[in-house]
Amino acid sequence: MEVTPVSTKTYETVKLERENGITWVILNRPDKKNAMTPQMHMEMLDVLDELEFDPETKVLALTGAGNSFCAGQDLKEFIVDQMKNGRERARYGWAASEWRWRRLYYFPKPTIAMVNGFCFGGGFTQLIACDFALSADEATYGLSEVNWGSFPGGLVSRVLAEALTYRDAMNLIMTGDTFDGKQASAMRLVTASYPLTQLRAETVKLAEKLMSKNLHTLRACKEVYKHVKNMDYTDAEDYMWAKMDALNALDPGVRDRGITDFAVEKKYKPGFDAHSGADKP
Ligand code: COA
Repeated sequence: MEVTPVSTKTYETVKLERENGITWVILNRPDKKNAMTPQMHMEMLDVLDELEFDPETKVLALTGAGNSFCAGQDLKEFIVDQMKNGRERARYGWAASEWRWRRLYYFPKPTIAMVNGFCFGGGFTQLIACDFALSADEATYGLSEVNWGSFPGGLVSRVLAEALTYRDAMNLIMTGDTFDGKQASAMRLVTASYPLTQLRAETVKLAEKLMSKNLHTLRACKEVYKHVKNMDYTDAEDYMWAKMDALNALDPGVRDRGITDFAVEKKYKPGFDAHSGADKP
């Protein structure tokens, strides 16, 4: 399969690779287990800006170089070096949350976290922000903050409430115990876990399944779900009617084509397949 570099820009802490509609965003500090520095946060903001409007990017897959997904914040460059640096500290703190919990969480195309190895502390934020997470069975996860005298900060404790049960969250936050991909899958922190040797192929398979569907519709699916859970029922219903109209404005007739071909024309069964006539922008 052909893998070509994304042509636009190059970054020092992030590597981009494009493969048949999938753009691989690879955190690229393997010698530091892809711990996140201020530079990486600023670069990731730019990467997401570029990819949001890149027509070649249909699905974004986030992973890490080497044997690590992400070892969390770089405890030296992001924390120790910023301790006496009030203004910059606030700026980098903003960037760290902005790219992960606003830009990535609401990224207008499907996102898959591919956890290829270590995933610690701050790395959970982008893991949970992605729509899907596929893990290597061999991956090692941990909320290690308690072991160095802190608690999962930034947005980590908040986003854990999104993905874990109360019992699992308390257990992991307060013990700092490590766990593997199979355990992550059992507690539904990730979508599924596979042997490392199969992980990339499974990620491509999932991306291909998503790309077989209408990408405007997929965008609406994720935006609706992620927004309505913070609304009351009345607001949610109103938002969803408006969103349905917005979807039809973006891709006129997308819903009607599918419904008519099933219910009137009897041409296909939506229970099994994406509508073949759906435009795929
Ligand atoms: N911040 C800064 N540096 C980090 C880091 C982090 N979060 N995670 C790893 N590194 C650095 C190590 O200090 C080491 O640097 P060095 O080569 O200059 O000594 C390098 O990355 C390689 O890590 P190393 O510890 O030698 O690898 P390992 O395979 O033995 O252990 C980890 C890997 C991830 C288990 C271990 O590095 C670790 O515990 N990291 C901290 C994880 C953490 O608490 N993250 C939460 C931050 S919010």
